[in-house]
Amino acid sequence: MKRIKQTLVVALVAALGWLAPAVALANAGDPVAGKGKISMCMGCHSIPNYKTAFPATYNVPKIGGQHAAYIVKALQAYKSGDRKHPSMRAIAATLSDQDMADIAAYYANTAPAAPAAKK
Ligand code: HEC
Repeated sequence: MKRIKQTLVVALVAALGWLAPAVALANAGDPVAGKGKISMCMGCHSIPNYKTAFPATYNVPKIGGQHAAYIVKALQAYKSGDRKHPSMRAIAATLSDQDMADIAAYYANTAPAAPAAKK
């Protein structure tokens, strides 16, 4: 019996070791996929050269160039309710973990939007 247990533990550890890279891969954001998932973000979060975000976006944080891990964390916090902003909560609720990772990877690879011109 002891031997069977030992064998099971060894097999489990081996299986986990094999699975870990696969899990890491699944959570790695794909910026190309992310690009196809941000159509609903663009109206509020301007990205470089995206001009229609003007002029009602002054209090929307810029997320282009932000660290991917920060973006994912923020989106998870909206989804869980730790962050309270109503429209971001509604949006984050529609995103899967993979969506968040992809979107974050996309935004992390874009340059921060240029500061809006002062008037
Ligand atoms: C209706 C306008 C609107 C839309 C659409 C929108 N956002 Fe936001 N977003 C905001 C506002 C306003 C805030 C700041 C909220 C706050 O103060 O917590 C925000 C905050 C964020 C933050 C946190 C930024 C920080 O620096 O803490 C992230 C990340 C974010 N949005 C990502 C997204 C993504 C990804 C999408 C598309 C899936 C999206 N948003 C769509 C308005 C919007």
